[in-house]
Amino acid sequence: MDLNYKIVNLFPNSIHNLEITDFDECKDELVKEIYQERERDPKGRTVSNQGGWQSNSHELHECKSEMLQKVIKNLLSEFKKNLLQEDIGITCEGWMNINGPGNFNVKHNHPRCHLSGVFWIKVPKNSGSIMFHSPEIFNRFQELDSYEEDFCYNSNCYMTHNFAPHEGRILIFPASLEHHVEKNNSNEDRISYSFNILLKHEK
Ligand SMILES: [Fe+2]
Repeated sequence: MDLNYKIVNLFPNSIHNLEITDFDECKDELVKEIYQERERDPKGRTVSNQGGWQSNSHELHECKSEMLQKVIKNLLSEFKKNLLQEDIGITCEGWMNINGPGNFNVKHNHPRCHLSGVFWIKVPKNSGSIMFHSPEIFNRFQELDSYEEDFCYNSNCYMTHNFAPHEGRILIFPASLEHHVEKNNSNEDRISYSFNILLKHEK
């Protein structure tokens, strides 16, 4: 019997994946400016990070790294141009992260905003992936747990899924989507910039 079996994956969680192709040209400056900020404010703040250093949160235009401001502004204007309706305005706040050897981030989401992003700046080998958790993990556990591996792979029906970080890569994702960052198992610092985006109709 031919059932013409098809699958429609409805209501996806969109993870926007962007790459800065000429990242080598700005990496050293970004790393330098982030270490400078840690010298200015060595205490920073602790939120989801277990160990390591996280800067205080700042509006993008107040970011102490000029290079970071420039990169994220360009990125957001591309994002806006390609995806968002014309009357949608974006505001953004962000913070710098330095996770040393053994440091990680516990599971969390980003309340009080709409989208969140991570920009990987220095990623030594084995310094930890970002792991997303399905919002359906409780409601649909038995179903998700029953599918064959091929189906899960082809339809992205996972309970958790990780994205390997690499330098110059940016992910933008729904702020409600829970995630954690694995332990930095390298001997060097892993450096990233995280940001939150608020969307607002301007009319
Ligand atoms: Fe996060």
